[in-house]
Amino acid sequence: MQQLQSRVIIIDYGSQVTQLIARRVREAGIYSEIMPCTTPIETIAAEKPGALILSGGPDSVGDEGAFSLDMGLLDLNVPILGICYGMQLLAHHLGGALATSTEREYGRAELEICADSLLWDGLDQNTVSVVWMSHGNHVTKVPEGFKIIARTKALDIAAMADEARGIYAVQFHPEVHHTTDGIRMLQNFLFKVARLKPDWTMRSFVERSIEECREKVGQSNVVLALSGGVDSSVVAALLHRAIGKQLHCIFVNHGLLRLNEGREVVDMMHAHLPGLNLKYVDASELFLSRLKGVEDPEQKRKIIGRTFIEVFEEEANSIENVKFLGQGTVYPDVIESISPKGVVIKSHHNVGGLPERMKLKLIEPLRELFKDEVRKVAAELGLPESLIWRHPFPGPGLAVRILGDITKERVATLQKADSIVREELKASGWYGKVWQGFAVLLPLRTVGVMGDSRTYENVVALRIVDSVDAMTADWSRLPNELLARMSSRIINEVHGVNRVVYDISSKPPSTIEWE
Ligand code: XMP
Repeated sequence: MQQLQSRVIIIDYGSQVTQLIARRVREAGIYSEIMPCTTPIETIAAEKPGALILSGGPDSVGDEGAFSLDMGLLDLNVPILGICYGMQLLAHHLGGALATSTEREYGRAELEICADSLLWDGLDQNTVSVVWMSHGNHVTKVPEGFKIIARTKALDIAAMADEARGIYAVQFHPEVHHTTDGIRMLQNFLFKVARLKPDWTMRSFVERSIEECREKVGQSNVVLALSGGVDSSVVAALLHRAIGKQLHCIFVNHGLLRLNEGREVVDMMHAHLPGLNLKYVDASELFLSRLKGVEDPEQKRKIIGRTFIEVFEEEANSIENVKFLGQGTVYPDVIESISPKGVVIKSHHNVGGLPERMKLKLIEPLRELFKDEVRKVAAELGLPESLIWRHPFPGPGLAVRILGDITKERVATLQKADSIVREELKASGWYGKVWQGFAVLLPLRTVGVMGDSRTYENVVALRIVDSVDAMTADWSRLPNELLARMSSRIINEVHGVNRVVYDISSKPPSTIEWE
C-alpha cells in the first residue's frame, strides 16, 4: 500500500465534533484518521503518525468509567495537541490539577494570549481572538514543564504548552467555525510544531480508497443499491474503478421517483461508467399496491423499506459469491460515528437491516466525509455536474411528499409539479444556491375559479430550503417573481391543482420533508 508521508491520528474521546477536527486537518492538506481512544497503542504506532490530536469528549476526567490517557501515546514521541477533554487528560495524567467549574462554560470567550507560542504564530495581536468553549472542568495547575500560553476572563489557563516535548493543549475548540483563528492555530500545530508537509489531496483520497476497497473485497462480489443520488453514485464510481465487474449495482424503481428519473439515472451511469454492471428493476406496481390506502408516514416508510429489501434481496441472491454491500453512508448519517461508545445510524437509513439479513459486510468509503467533500470526490472521479449538484432525495421518494393516500394519479400530479419547481430553479440559477427544492401534494382540496366555473382541487406546497448539512435549515428567500412563475406554471400546467402555497418554516422546529 502506498505510504503517505504526513498523517495525523485523531484520538477520539467521544466528542460530537471530532469529525470537524479531521475535516480541518484534511483541508490543510494532511491525511488524518480518527481512532477511538480504546485503540491499542501498537495499532496507532503502526500508522507512523507525524502528530496526534486528542479530541474533546463528554466525560469528566477521573470519573468512574471516564476515558483515561494511554501513556503509550506519549512514548510515540510525536507532537500532541489536546483539545478540551484532551487538554484535561494531559493535565491530569502529567501531574497538573483540575477543578470542576461551578457552571459549564458554553459559547463565546475572548482569548488573551499571555506567552509567545508557535501556536499563535501569525495571529494579529491587535484584534481580539474569539474562541468557542464547551466544558465542565478546567485546568487549575499546569504539569511540570508546561507554561500557560493563554487565558480568558473565566479561565486562568485556557491553553498550555510544553514546547520541549511538543505538547500543546487548548481548552477551547479550534475546529469549530466560531473560533476566529482556529484554522490558523491548527495549521500552526501541523506545520510549525509538527513540521508536516501538506501532501494530501482529493486525488490521494480517491487512490487510497480504491486500493483499500480492492484489498478488502479480494475475489468476492459486491452489491450496491444505486439511487442516482450523489452518495451512492460516488460509491459506484469508486468501486467500479477498484473492482470493475465484481461490482453489481441494482437500481430499484419504486414508482415514487421524480419525473423520468429512472431512465435518466441509468443512462447517466452508463455514459460515465462504461461497462458498469447495472440492473434496473421496475417494481413500481408492487410498491404502489402495498401502499394502497396507507396514510400514516411511518407505515409508508416501513412498507417501502421492507419491500425495497425484498426486491433488492431477490436480485442480489441471483448473483454468486456476494460478500459485501456497498453503501453511500456519509458522516452526517452517522450520528456518533466511530465514537468509542458505539455506533448509531440515523433511523431513516434506507437499507437498514439488509446487511444482517443477507450476512453481508459493509463497504462505506465515504463514511468520514461531509457532503461537500463527497461532491469534490465526485468531481475528481469525473462524474457530471448535474449529478454532483443534484438535490438530496429521500429513500422513500415522493411517498413522503404525497400526504395521505398514494395513488398513481397523485404520483403523476406531484411529479409534474415537482419538475416545474426544478425547471424554474435551474432556469433562474437558484438550483445550485439552495439545499433542496421540491413540491409537496397536500391531502386537501380548496375552492378556486377558472374561467367562469368554480373548481375544487388540490393544493401544492413548495418547500425550498437553505442548509449546510440538513440538520438545521431555513426557508429560502427566493425572489417573488420566481415564486410567482412557479405558482402560475403549476396551476396552469398541472391538471387538478388550483392553489400553490410557500412553506416558510425553519428546521427546527419543522423538518425539511413534510412527513
Ligand atoms: P428532515 O425531513 O428530517 O430531512 O428534515 C433531512 C434530510 O433527510 C432527507 N430525508 C430522508 N432521506 N430517507 C432518506 O434517505 C428518508 O426516509 C428521509 N427522510 C428525510 C431529507 O430529504 C433531507 O435532505
